[in-house]
Amino acid sequence: MSPLAVIAGLEVPANVLVTGASSGIGLAAVGQLLDNARVGRVVAVSRGAEHHAGLSELGRSHGDRLLTLSCDITSDNDRDALAARLAAAGIDSLHLLLNCAGVLHAHRLRPEKSLAALRSDALAQVFALNAFAPVLLVQALLPLLKHRDPVVLASLSARVGSIGDNHLGGWYAYRASKAAQNQLFRTLSIELRRTHPHAACVLLHPGTVDTPLSKPFQAGVPPEKLFTPEHSARRLLMVIAGITPEASGRFYAWDGAEIPW
Ligand SMILES: NC(=O)c1ccc[n+]([C@@H]2O[C@H](COP(=O)([O-])OP(=O)(O)OC[C@H]3O[C@@H](n4cnc5c(N)ncnc54)[C@H](OP(=O)(O)O)[C@@H]3O)[C@@H](O)[C@H]2O)c1
Repeated sequence: MSPLAVIAGLEVPANVLVTGASSGIGLAAVGQLLDNARVGRVVAVSRGAEHHAGLSELGRSHGDRLLTLSCDITSDNDRDALAARLAAAGIDSLHLLLNCAGVLHAHRLRPEKSLAALRSDALAQVFALNAFAPVLLVQALLPLLKHRDPVVLASLSARVGSIGDNHLGGWYAYRASKAAQNQLFRTLSIELRRTHPHAACVLLHPGTVDTPLSKPFQAGVPPEKLFTPEHSARRLLMVIAGITPEASGRFYAWDGAEIPW
């Protein structure tokens, strides 16, 4: 059986950059992309990527097809340095950007159950990563999209970011940051139609996935609805493989179904 096309219509080996590559869905996606013979090089990005045991292990098996780069994608300096670090490693074109970095909880950061729990510093922290970093990352990597091959820019969102689907409330910062990311990517899709007609940018909901991000909130999730990171990554890569520029600016779930804004 021939390997799965990474992106529809791409004839050359795909160069892929995955953020959030040290954990959960991003790490699973890096492994699956490296196993695909139609993938050229994979760039794995997270703050601690260069010191991550799992990525080091993959590096030993796949040699220089894998490049790990430690980068805080909320930092202007780190993003600016990224394109230069890729060029230094001989990577001057990208075909797929898969942004899997995201935050729901962290040290002194919990999703808010009520208005009383809102804090401006927490809102800023969550928005910096979930809303602003993905589109600023595209800005930083734009020189690598100058070629004429197909490109997909995919960023993980979340169904709870859908405003129309919000019937439960709570999780103010996380919901709103994902909704803001959706609007930023939708706006980007309209500009790219003009400037980069070979590119598509989409938002993706990965399902509820057993990762450190969802761990504290899995109690009410039926086992059959809790995906492994490997299952979610596989389904997301299948959705990505079917994306064409006509689909740009839309929000899709792991099964390819479109999600309302
Ligand atoms: N899990 C779910 O059920 C679920 C459901 C809906 C949507 N999602 C979305 O799916 C995406 C992936 O989630 P996940 O569950 O795989 O999360 P995860 O296991 O917690 O992984 C998050 C990743 O983001 C990286 N990261 C965090 N801050 C960063 C920064 N400032 N710069 C660069 N990288 C950073 C982390 O690595 P370092 O710490 O090394 O930086 C880690 O690799 C997120 O956007 C999440 O919102 C997840």
